[in-house]
Amino acid sequence: MSMKLPFFKTKKTKVEEENELDNIPKHVAIIMDGNGRWAKKRGLPRLAGHKEGMEVVQKIVKTAVNCHVDILTLYAFSTENWRRPKSEVDYLLGLPKEFLHIYLPELIENNVKIETIGNMDVLPGHTKKAVRYAKEKTEDNDGLLLNFALNYGSRFEIIQAIRRLVTDIDSSKLTLDNLDEHIFSEYLYTTGLSDPDLLIRTSGEQRLSNFLLWQLAYTEFWFTDVLWPDFSDETFKKALYDYQQRKRRYGGV
Ligand code: IPE
Ligand code: IPE
Ligand code: MG
Repeated sequence: MSMKLPFFKTKKTKVEEENELDNIPKHVAIIMDGNGRWAKKRGLPRLAGHKEGMEVVQKIVKTAVNCHVDILTLYAFSTENWRRPKSEVDYLLGLPKEFLHIYLPELIENNVKIETIGNMDVLPGHTKKAVRYAKEKTEDNDGLLLNFALNYGSRFEIIQAIRRLVTDIDSSKLTLDNLDEHIFSEYLYTTGLSDPDLLIRTSGEQRLSNFLLWQLAYTEFWFTDVLWPDFSDETFKKALYDYQQRKRRYGGV
């Protein structure tokens, strides 16, 4: 298979190309932060930052496809983001529909499969509808899995997992003796997905903000001061490159 990656500025040999694709993280999770500050710096309303951030999502999806990342999980709206002014919440929850309206055909063309994690039940009807439609349209795709964390909060995820788990124990579907890490994971939103190999957070903040607390146990973290709307193909590739140099030990030697 010939792979022409934007990675390669000059023509490389096949061996060199294979080396650059070696040890690419299978699952990359990103906390896309800094939209508001990006807008403020330009004297624009915060919403303009979110809009610009949405454009960056599509750019980064393309890079992920080209670099053969398997899963890209993007933190788009947290369970705590409801604390923002209603106008901003409304705008943020309108973005999935807008994004999919513009980019779904291109995503389909690129064999991207769309999924979500988070509590969709309480999202506005138009958001749910757009997301459901995109999931249906891409369900047979087997390229990049583009996983949006929408109304996602890790603590809520763990609580809902425990609730369902206890229900299954009560109805004898599961016994307490059988409960282990693997079975517990199946009750999380991320069931069936491998844990992220690389976590990126933009905008200089170095915290998880309730993102994938269970799943990030052995993930490599990569932080940058770049604000999400300025996050580029090059910055993403720098993160991938840095990941490639890391040694993961999982508690071993
Ligand atoms: C990230 O940008 C987008 C979401 C949280 C949805 P912010 O809106 O958090 O931007 P800052 O952190 O205020 O700059
Ligand atoms: C995390 O960013 C949530 C998303 C990127 C969707 P926040 O901007 O909400 O996080 P805090 O408030 O700085 O921790
Ligand atoms: Mg923020």
